[in-house]
Amino acid sequence: MCKKQIEFFDTTLRDGEQTIGVNFDIETKVQIAQELEKWGVDVIEAGFPAASKADFKAVQAVANSLDTACVTGLARAVTKDIDACYAATKDANHKQIHVFIATSPIHREFKLHMTKEENLAAIQKYVSYAKQFFEKVEFSPEDATRTEPEYLVQAINTAIDSGATVINIADTVGYTNPVEFGKLFDYLQANVPRFNEVTFSVHCHNDLGMADANALAGIEHGASRIEGTINGIGERAGNSALEEVAVALKVRKDFYQAHDNINLEKTRDICEMVSDYTKMPIPNNKAVVGTNAFSHESGIHQDGMLKNHSTYEILTPESVGMGATNLPLGKLSGSHAVKQKIEQLGYDVSNEEMKIIFPIFKNIADQKPIVSTSDLKVIMNEYEVTANE
Ligand code: KIV
Ligand code: ZN
Repeated sequence: MCKKQIEFFDTTLRDGEQTIGVNFDIETKVQIAQELEKWGVDVIEAGFPAASKADFKAVQAVANSLDTACVTGLARAVTKDIDACYAATKDANHKQIHVFIATSPIHREFKLHMTKEENLAAIQKYVSYAKQFFEKVEFSPEDATRTEPEYLVQAINTAIDSGATVINIADTVGYTNPVEFGKLFDYLQANVPRFNEVTFSVHCHNDLGMADANALAGIEHGASRIEGTINGIGERAGNSALEEVAVALKVRKDFYQAHDNINLEKTRDICEMVSDYTKMPIPNNKAVVGTNAFSHESGIHQDGMLKNHSTYEILTPESVGMGATNLPLGKLSGSHAVKQKIEQLGYDVSNEEMKIIFPIFKNIADQKPIVSTSDLKVIMNEYEVTANE
């Protein structure tokens, strides 16, 4: 079957920087951008050049430091933002611009004070303006998922006719759900005459916890670019977590029939780097890179894992750079896992002996969350003393 190529657009340095309390300095942005390039992302949104002098300089420094990845900066549909973006990225090996304007009735009325006609005129004017400087122009209808579908089509057609090469469907407030988002893409495929001439992209926020699922639904229904951030950081509840989407595409290749340029074995490195620089610890139960993602505590699961890893793991920890599977011992652990750990410590124990040792283990496990290697050694020393008496 023909596989489609998915482009990864990382906005950790722009939407990610909109996380409360996160502010990357120039050197940090360059370091993260270089790690993102190694991880294999296709496009890096380095910042919002018109927002501040520092952000202009940061986008410029990132633009000049990248080799293969395409750099982009964000620009509102106004001349000064587009000029700033061009000035910051003009020397890059590969560049694009990201122009956005809101299209939903709520934003048109209360934020922009624009009629539909004025909104369409702004799209036409500023996408065409950007096209004078950039071969690749991405246009985002902000709040696309709360925009009237017929009007969204008009906005998209206007952008494409004005020179946009990428249309990014933004679920700005994390409002949609996977079924609805899939249907929106079906609708766009049916109603945007030049749908196949441009790249369709998804940009999903996580307000209802559906950012990854929505992005994947968009991919299933015709998008070939995903925008998101490392560790899912970003405005409010954040964005799609790119490392999770990358792993979903890999593990469920049978379903998505897609490939990409991501080097999954470097996933832990980039996630830890972003966690360190943002001072946002990775939650233990976080998908893919949480410390518990490859740990199994219950006896039934540990027994399954010892028999065959695929009983309870759908990807190997090594494939995402996470080291080995962990079977921590606790009150729910079974005799099989305890015996294996004891043997790893160099003791030779029979099943008969385990009938005495395991209850001692259980007794200790009832009193603490994890039974450590030293606890096991104490158990074994006491057992050996008693057995030799
Ligand atoms: O969430 C959003 O709508 C954005 C746009 C700038 C694409 O971040
Ligand atoms: Zn966003």
